Amino acid sequence: MSQILVKSPKHCAKQGLNIDKHYKKLFLAFSTLFTSILSLILIIWLILRPAKPDFSLTEADVYLLNLSGGHLLNSSVQLTLFSKNPNQKVGIYYDELQVYAAYKGQQITTYTSLPPFYQGQGDSNLLTASLVGIGLPVAPSFGYEVGRDQIAGKLVLNLKVNGQLRWKVGTWVSSRYRFNVNCVAVMPFGPAIPSGPLTSKQGTQCSTTV
Ligand SMILES: *[C@@H]1O[C@H](CO)[C@@H](O)[C@H](O)[C@H]1NC(C)=O
Ligand SMILES: *[C@@H]1O[C@H](CO)[C@@H](O)[C@H](O)[C@H]1NC(C)=O
Repeated sequence: MSQILVKSPKHCAKQGLNIDKHYKKLFLAFSTLFTSILSLILIIWLILRPAKPDFSLTEADVYLLNLSGGHLLNSSVQLTLFSKNPNQKVGIYYDELQVYAAYKGQQITTYTSLPPFYQGQGDSNLLTASLVGIGLPVAPSFGYEVGRDQIAGKLVLNLKVNGQLRWKVGTWVSSRYRFNVNCVAVMPFGPAIPSGPLTSKQGTQCSTTV
């Protein structure tokens, strides 16, 4: 009896050690596999290194820029953007695109959402958006600034896109990355023409940050 009592814990200890060894081996195997997969992804990523998507402003037309009560703006801007994926091995999913116009740092239209889309390798798309603002509050200086620009004959508008993108390599799709596009349109701006847009601008390069 006493012998068994003494033996038993020894036996247990030995078995415990065995299990420990097995776990260690398994852990080692898994961590090696994990590290290899990670480095493989990193290598592929470094080789492919996706370039930022290209955007340019094909055309922007300002149809309405009317102030009431000194600080409530009605605006209407139509724009067409050219979007291109410069990557030959990486596709791009665009999600939650929002377009708006800004003048001297303040937003002058509400956000317009664009439908999500996929852009294959080297593909390009034309995106059109109709931006409006109805009774949008702006700084009291807005009317004065626009009046001054009209005398100067030049209006600078920022047309901006905020969104998220996912890279697609083969069947693998990355997580989402925020990106911003900023198009600076320097538009001729004179006395209002009876019909047609107040001002329009064609062909402007935009900057993209991911
Ligand atoms: C914009 O305002 C001007 C004067 O304030 C007015 O003559 C013009 O009709 C307005 N345009 C629109 C489209 O409401
Ligand atoms: C802006 O639009 C609203 C709604 O259509 C209208 O009531 C208001 O008179 C407009 N203001 C100007 C300055 O055109």
